[in-house]
Amino acid sequence: MCGIFGYIGPHQASPILLEGLRRLEYRGYDSTGLAVKNGAISIYKKVGKVQQLREILPQTIEGNMGIAHTRWATHGGVTDENSHPHPSAQGKVVIVHNGIIENARMLRTSLNVQGVKLVSETDSEVLAHIIERELSIDDNPEEAVRRALRQARGTWGICAVFKDHDMIVCARNGSPLIIGQGINEMFISSDPHALTAHTQQVIYLEDGDLATLTATSVKLSTLTGGDSSTKGTTLENDWGESELGDYPHFMLKEIYEQPDALRHCINGRLDRTRGSGKLGGLKLSPAALAKVPHVRLLGCGTSYNAAEIGRLLIEKLARIPTFAHISSEFRHNDPVIHPSALHFAVTQSGETADTLSAIKEIQLKGGNVHGVVNVVGSSIARLCGRGVYIHSGPEQAVASTKAFSNMVAALSMFALQIGRSRNISKERGVELIHGLQQVPHLVESYLENQGPILEAVELVKNAKSVLFLGRGISAPVAKEGALKLMEIAYIPCLAYPAGEMKHGPIALLEEGSPVIFIAPNDHVKTKTASAIHECRARGAKIILIHEEGDEIAEEGDVCISVPPVHNLLSPLLTVVPLQLIAYHTALELGCDVDRPRNLAKSVTVE
Ligand code: M6R
Repeated sequence: MCGIFGYIGPHQASPILLEGLRRLEYRGYDSTGLAVKNGAISIYKKVGKVQQLREILPQTIEGNMGIAHTRWATHGGVTDENSHPHPSAQGKVVIVHNGIIENARMLRTSLNVQGVKLVSETDSEVLAHIIERELSIDDNPEEAVRRALRQARGTWGICAVFKDHDMIVCARNGSPLIIGQGINEMFISSDPHALTAHTQQVIYLEDGDLATLTATSVKLSTLTGGDSSTKGTTLENDWGESELGDYPHFMLKEIYEQPDALRHCINGRLDRTRGSGKLGGLKLSPAALAKVPHVRLLGCGTSYNAAEIGRLLIEKLARIPTFAHISSEFRHNDPVIHPSALHFAVTQSGETADTLSAIKEIQLKGGNVHGVVNVVGSSIARLCGRGVYIHSGPEQAVASTKAFSNMVAALSMFALQIGRSRNISKERGVELIHGLQQVPHLVESYLENQGPILEAVELVKNAKSVLFLGRGISAPVAKEGALKLMEIAYIPCLAYPAGEMKHGPIALLEEGSPVIFIAPNDHVKTKTASAIHECRARGAKIILIHEEGDEIAEEGDVCISVPPVHNLLSPLLTVVPLQLIAYHTALELGCDVDRPRNLAKSVTVE
């Protein structure tokens, strides 16, 4: 979603800002812009990609300080005027803003009454004008921003530059902002990835913080004018390269990174002697685990699909009631929170607003939430304080792949840990450990021999819709496959537990309709086979994901086999061909694989 990058220091700002924007591109956006100060403040903005902004910039823009933005439209259409940065009426203040100003309509009206003409349809622009109005009182930028934000209701990550002052003032409430501290230079970004090229020394602003940056200093305070307790930290070296390298797309690169990502996730977290998982970051003793009344997992999109798999594993291994919830629904249903229950927030970015709100609801009602998070230091990781980092490395394609696998692996290890505290034998635990340790190698061997993916693509690429079916642990895999194909190839997809197909979706089938079945060799396979027969009888073309050497292969029109694996871990194998089908279909249809239309990598609005 929207991204912010800012710079103040001895170098020319514009190349640094452009590079910052380029590193924010993966988040998803529809327009970009930057403002550079050199006496006056020059603003350039454009609908489209960073490259299109680059094309309208003059050869050189003098100035050692500036702010830049990638916009994902919420209030107002995708136009140059609505793009950020936004200047104030007299040009003394220029801002970039992430988040939503909820009382923007009221603030607009009062600005109009005062004779201020707003030029965009955005909620953000009001902030530029109000800061300028406040600045006229005492010419104190920090106080002007503070007073302006006290009049706003909503969420913000905001940066402001001033025509008559050499500083950047920024503030956070609900939208992340991270200060990067260099030597005689400062950076500000909504995403730590964009800072790593410059510095590892960072300050994650907390909600309610306000910061004033010069090239050599950072002054932290709060919106109310008090001292901020926020401290600096050193960015951890994320394993994994965030650049494309020799791959044509991030999505393909990330699919291929899955074996190594899985190794990073499980490394050091399995205890063969006890046959258990060893997730130290959860800070949960076996005694505490034995008393847990139930478990709730929360997530959105792919993370919710991973949570559903986690739910099945925990229930199976620990015999404890477990529920998976879509975060965006959770708090609006006034959930009952048990103080001893375990809650997990599952998220790649760690910034998803719906999941953040669900966590706050649980915490407000006295519950504890553990994070299952990829991005180290993200808002959700910090809000939870405890949890499991899934260690996927940077994931840049909007369509999540390696994060899904690592979420499932992390939740499997937790299921093992809680299972051993309550229900399963050491021998069963060791079996699962053995299975988990084999997975990276098995995924690697599948990637070396992918089967007839392109035949599957031929069947789905022009379909009116594609049905994905699986049972048991494969039902969430079916959902994940459908989500992937839908989001990057724009083909309507339906996912159902296979047994439910005959209760409705079967009406969609006609001669040639593609149906993708996920049928590993588990206890529900024969039931799945019945659903395959029912589809075939109606002329459907069956794309079958199955285990190597399994006789069920006779049932498919296009059969894609994956190496056999421990039954409970089959999602880690069966999801990979689904990711590849989505990727190659999108490619075949000429879609923007890494940045599908309308979507954002990190969805920071509710
Ligand atoms: O960062 P999160 O894991 O919290 O993101 C949740 C969803 O927005 C995300 O999984 C989305 O569904 C992906 N685009 C799926 O590929």
